[in-house]
Amino acid sequence: MNKTPLVIGNWKMELSHKSAIEVVSAIKKMMQQETYPADIVVCPSFPSIAAVHASVQGTPIAVGAQNVHHEEKGAFTGSVSVASMRGFITWCILGHSEVRRAEGDSDALVAQKAKLVLSHGIRPIVCIGETGQQHDSDETISVISAQIDMLLSSLDRVSLLKTVIVYEPIWAIGTGKLPDPNEVYEVLLFIRKRIAGHFDIELADRVYLLYGGSVQASNVKQYIAGPGADGVLVGGASIHPRDFMDIVSRTASAYAL
Ligand code: 13P
Repeated sequence: MNKTPLVIGNWKMELSHKSAIEVVSAIKKMMQQETYPADIVVCPSFPSIAAVHASVQGTPIAVGAQNVHHEEKGAFTGSVSVASMRGFITWCILGHSEVRRAEGDSDALVAQKAKLVLSHGIRPIVCIGETGQQHDSDETISVISAQIDMLLSSLDRVSLLKTVIVYEPIWAIGTGKLPDPNEVYEVLLFIRKRIAGHFDIELADRVYLLYGGSVQASNVKQYIAGPGADGVLVGGASIHPRDFMDIVSRTASAYAL
């Protein structure tokens, strides 16, 4: 089936407001000079979301948040509600391992957040993945299956189709350690089969599955080509516009193979 590859930049807490605007301006400029046959999402930190959204008007670039509070509203000092971002974001990263670690988000809470953002017309980008220790003791598939099953039992077909699932081995995030592409294919295939078992093959084929973890222009192709991912979630390299757009180009060309 024909899908457009998806490349998402997770800017984490790396940029000042001024730098965030500069990065998105540079990306826009490159997109005016060259055609990039991929869908592009940038995820600034909360205070820059509205300005980045304003900056990308009239361009194909979409904006996402890096997290959201699980309640609609209330006395939650320091938290950010989906309603406060509505109109500015079309995507929201959920269950990133850095958030799971810092805030203790469980699979059940991630699923609850996914339903919440979907009810506001926002598409969830759900991250799953195993720790280095779990990887070394061959627990990857059991960890992934618990994470994916919670999501599948919480979402209906339409919701799942709007959801992007990212396999991010935690030990590959920000470390430069790259998983064997065959292992990534196996995990992605496992996820598709799980979706097919819960729903059907047609739906499983249509759901976007991404890879994330130490992605660079020099290594992205191996995770995309052939039976690989439908795109990538990029951390460190996404705050450098040239590097990010190189990743976008190479993802698009590997996906077309
Ligand atoms: P790096 O690309 O810096 O490894 O980060 C990956 C990531 O966490 C994206 O969400």
